[in-house]
Amino acid sequence: MPKIKLLPHPEYSPSGATFEVSTSSTLCDALLDNGIPIEHACGKVGACSTCHIVVRQGFDKLNPLGDNEEDLLDMAWGLEPQSRLACQAIVTGSHELVVEIPKYSINHAKETV
Ligand code: FES
Repeated sequence: MPKIKLLPHPEYSPSGATFEVSTSSTLCDALLDNGIPIEHACGKVGACSTCHIVVRQGFDKLNPLGDNEEDLLDMAWGLEPQSRLACQAIVTGSHELVVEIPKYSINHAKETV
C-alpha cells in the first residue's frame, strides 16, 4: 500500500505525519481522509490552486501533470519544479511519497499583499 510522509507544517501538522493511502486516491483526498485539512477552495475540481503541494519524493510516481494543472500552478505561492495540485495528483503505485504543504496558499498570499 502506498505511504505518504507529510513534512511538518506549522498549521496543518506541526510534527508531520505518516499514513497509508489507497492506490488511485488523489493526494488531496488522502490528506483530508487522514485529518490534514488542506485547503481545497474549488471543491477539488482543479480550478483554484489552493491545494498546492510539493512532492519531495515520488513525484514521478504520480499521474502526469496536465496542461490545466500546469497553468493553475503558475498562480500558486512558492512554486517549485515538484509542485502539484493535490486534487489532481493521483497515487499510482505502492511507493512512499514525501509531501510538503507550502507555508502559504494563494489565499494567504492575497491577504498579505
Ligand atoms: Fe482547487 Fe485543487 S482544490 S485546484
